[in-house]
Amino acid sequence: MPRTATPRHYLMVRPTFFDVEYSINPWMNPKKPTDTDLAIAQWEWLRDLYLELGHRVEQLEPRPGLLDMVFAANGATVLNGQAFVARFRHPQRQPEAGAYLDWFREHGYRDVRQSRWVNEGEGDYLVAGGRILAGTGFRTDSRAHGEAAEFFGVPVTGLTLVDPHYYHLDTALCVLDADTVMYYPRAFSPDSRRLLEELYPDAIRAGDLDAAVFGLNAVSDGRHVVLPQAATGLIAQVRERGFEPIGADMSELLKAGGSVKCCTLELRT
Ligand code: ARG
Repeated sequence: MPRTATPRHYLMVRPTFFDVEYSINPWMNPKKPTDTDLAIAQWEWLRDLYLELGHRVEQLEPRPGLLDMVFAANGATVLNGQAFVARFRHPQRQPEAGAYLDWFREHGYRDVRQSRWVNEGEGDYLVAGGRILAGTGFRTDSRAHGEAAEFFGVPVTGLTLVDPHYYHLDTALCVLDADTVMYYPRAFSPDSRRLLEELYPDAIRAGDLDAAVFGLNAVSDGRHVVLPQAATGLIAQVRERGFEPIGADMSELLKAGGSVKCCTLELRT
């Protein structure tokens, strides 16, 4: 059965000030050199790909000193034109929230709210059909799950992450379409694994190697699935299910613990 793409609207932040100078996840090693120009080139490739696929890409101006700002997925969760803005766990990223609040207000979003509890946007909230899957364990406070359910009026299903390498839900699970997901079972607590098995008996399950190259940090438009090119097992599995995988080289951004999905915030109207 051929899959159908639907045009998407994304918000992205150019990695102009990208660097790794602190460590807030196990992938970040400040001693390892980074190449900002290469990060920019990889990011521009991704932005151009989205445009070629017929999607709309909006850009939020990066701010100096905010090294992780390229990871736009963390700025908010946007559904039905409502923006639920992040409250970051770590002080290094906290000032990013203000940039998102300003951006949504300036762009005519009427229902803009910053969450009361720690919440890292689409890093931990993934819209899946009529529900939101929400991660907790490392970043987003589970109390922010209830807040999101109330704000959006949509059921929120909480999932607990247990491996610090997969600290955001979008590093361990990807929504391919309303009822298809792929995920890395080992990243989840036993209860959450059981829940995922119940909800998605036909899910694609990622192996250790694909998970470790951030293969689950992917973006799907219903047909094209953009994911790290090193995730060769997942690329094959996604193709078998009738999707069209597109491999991306995001090696430079991986040094900060991010890849394709982390750079992409979906704006749903
Ligand atoms: N260095 C960033 C952090 O640890 C990476 C964020 C990745 N973003 C994501 N959506 N998983 O916060």
